[in-house]
Parts: sequence; C-alpha cells; structure tokens
Amino acid sequence: MDKTDHNILFHKMFHIEGGNFTSAGLISDQVKKILKEAGIPKKVIRRASIATFEAEMNVICYATQGDLSLFITPLFLKIVVDDEGHGIPDIHLAMSEGYSTADEKIREWGFGAGMGLPNIRRNTDEMVLTSTFRQGTHLEFVIYLERQETQLPFE
Ligand SMILES: Nc1ncnc2c1ncn2[C@@H]1O[C@H](COP(=O)(O)OP(=O)(O)OP(=O)(O)O)[C@@H](O)[C@H]1O
Ligand SMILES: [Mg+2]
Repeated sequence: MDKTDHNILFHKMFHIEGGNFTSAGLISDQVKKILKEAGIPKKVIRRASIATFEAEMNVICYATQGDLSLFITPLFLKIVVDDEGHGIPDIHLAMSEGYSTADEKIREWGFGAGMGLPNIRRNTDEMVLTSTFRQGTHLEFVIYLERQETQLPFE
C-alpha cells in the first residue's frame, strides 16, 4: 500500500473458495456491511459493492482459491484480490465487454456474460489486473471517497 500505509483505518482479509457457488456474494455482502458501519457515502458503497461482487465471483468461477482484502483509508477504499488458478492468458481480451470463457456450469448459475471486469473498471477510479498464466491472478482497485469542498483563495 506504499506511502499511505500509516493511514489505513481498517483492514480485513477474506478467503474465497473456488467453485463454491452456494457462497456467492457472501464476501461482498460483508464488505458492504463494513462500509455502511464505517459511514462511507452511499454512492461509494454502491460502486464498491458492484466491483467487489464481480471480483469475488471471478475467483469462485475461475480460480481454485483466493484472498480478498479490504483497506479503508481517509481518502479511498482499496480492494486487493489474489487468487491461485489458471490465470488469464490475455488480459486485454478478458477486459473486453462480452468476452467470457464460462462453461455450462457457470452459465447455469447465471454468470458468464463477460461483463464482470468491464463493470469493475466502470465502477472504480483505478484498476490494475495482472496474471501469471497457469498460476493465478492479481486484481486491485481503488475508489476515492467523496472529496471535501476545497476553499479557493480570493473567492
Ligand atoms: N480470477 C480469474 N482467473 C482466471 N480467469 C479469469 C479471472 N477473472 C476473469 N477471468 C477470465 O476473464 C473472462 C472475463 O471475465 P468477466 O468477469 O468480465 O466475465 P465473466 O466472468 O465471464 O462473466 P460475468 O462476469 O458477466 O458473469 C472470464 O470469462 C475468464 O476467462
Ligand atoms: Mg465475471
């Protein structure tokens, strides 16, 4: 978390089990609850919940297991997800709307529209996705908290 390390107000890590569709959404629900209790603005919670749900689902759908960390700082929320799995061979392709490698089982659960990663990008202010093919995937995103009105001099 580089230079903002000392400003972390809250940190929690959640474990995600790959293939466990019956627990789909449980972690993003917990994150939402924490953000509500922390008094984070509703608009920010909404964006964070969408992005966290998509990130959680991608680990359930495509990885063996993963860890999702939530960081709250005075300026932003940050979610970091590291998983072990087959990874993503072509990040650019994976990021394009409608691209999906979801199999029948995933589609039966209602996922596989190829909209998860584009949805994460749309709902976050910064997003980094990297992957080592056949090893795993690293995703992190940041959502800035609403800025305070700044008082300009001479106004
Ligand atoms: N953590 C991951 N590990 C391996 N592959 C992934 C991971 N996340 C995404 N992918 C790959 O990127 C593709 C696109 O992901 P994206 O979330 O955009 O769509 P989807 O999961 O297929 O469908 P949707 O999210 O709309 O249910 C996936 O089909 C999969 O091939
Ligand atoms: Mg997805």
